[in-house]
Amino acid sequence: MAADMDIDLIRKQTKGCTDKIFLNSAGSSLVPQSVTDKMVGYLQMEALTGGYALANQYETEIEDLYVQAALLFNCAPKNIAYATSATDAYAKAITAINFKAGDVILTTDDDYISNQLSFLSLKNRFGISIIRADNLPNGDLDLDTFEKLVISHQPKLVAITHIPTNSGLIQPAEEIGRICKKYDILYLLDACQSVGQRVVDVQRIGCDFMTATGRKFVRGPRGTGLLYVSDKVLDEQMVPLIFDMQGADWTGNDEYRLAKTGKRFEFWESSIAGKLGLKEALTYINGIGISNIELYNVNLMQQFRKELQKVPGLDLHDQGSHLSNILTFTTSNRPLQDTAQLLRENNVYFSMSFRDFARIDFNKKDLDAIIRFSAHYFNTPEELEKTIAILNY
Ligand SMILES: Cc1ncc(COP(=O)(O)O)c(C=O)c1O
Repeated sequence: MAADMDIDLIRKQTKGCTDKIFLNSAGSSLVPQSVTDKMVGYLQMEALTGGYALANQYETEIEDLYVQAALLFNCAPKNIAYATSATDAYAKAITAINFKAGDVILTTDDDYISNQLSFLSLKNRFGISIIRADNLPNGDLDLDTFEKLVISHQPKLVAITHIPTNSGLIQPAEEIGRICKKYDILYLLDACQSVGQRVVDVQRIGCDFMTATGRKFVRGPRGTGLLYVSDKVLDEQMVPLIFDMQGADWTGNDEYRLAKTGKRFEFWESSIAGKLGLKEALTYINGIGISNIELYNVNLMQQFRKELQKVPGLDLHDQGSHLSNILTFTTSNRPLQDTAQLLRENNVYFSMSFRDFARIDFNKKDLDAIIRFSAHYFNTPEELEKTIAILNY
């Protein structure tokens, strides 16, 4: 089945995609023109009015950010908090949990570097334990063992990276959600690489917290992100360790009342241009339809992986039965840096990942570095064919 979208129009609205082959949406993607226009227009007006007066005029449009994010995640606007990055959202979620010595965080071998660092910080400060569930030989998370670990350790938190930064794996977020529901365990999903690329439905997943960033597959501005918090989180009065006057009202000298919505997880100060740019990016996705985007991406990547497998001296390293738009490889016919140089000379944009970014995964695969391609729905099959021809050179 083909996706119902107008690629020519999408490419016309994506300024940076015509003079290069842009395969770095997992790094920082190309924003649609509407995002740039909205932000530049706002900043120009802000220069004339100062920050506060203009923000007041834009109140309704700023609120639409929450509406658009809720539409994309399948929740209510009250469950959304704006953040300045995925890591900002993650830190807010983590510090809302009252960790004590002996508590367990259950995670995986494929969790994002900064998440692993925050678990280590909690370990050093509070004496928590980190347990990582194993993968099956094919790279999929071993869900049976995972459930057994939940039963035996009763973790305070299950923390999963939906799509790792350094491999094409897609973790079974919904199955994990079912296990967390069954045993009443808090569930934090890092959806930084999946939001905007695949359908990410918080009702189906059943997570308590979910973090996302603006600049990657969402195609929003840098310095923006989102946090989803469940009704349970709101009802149980969970709140980040440090909140400000956005998160609560100061109701008496020694008293406060928490905000009723996800805004409890925000700080008051933010870039309004950034918020509006992110709102525009989300509106753009919702206009195309995330199911269409997912379908296009799945078809594009199936073909790309199939053709890349035939390139002599190129080794794909993505494992697992569900693969994403992130594609990683090394080359055995020439040094990886030479392959990277060849791609750069031919105007192909991509990223490289190194062992320190994903120690556990790369140690298992015995890799020092990989080239990462991350195509998105503004890329065409012709561009990917050209990339393959360059690699075949
Ligand atoms: C899986 C994953 N989680 C979290 C992050 C952090 O996102 P941010 O830089 O917006 O904090 C990244 C960034 O690459 C990522 O790939």
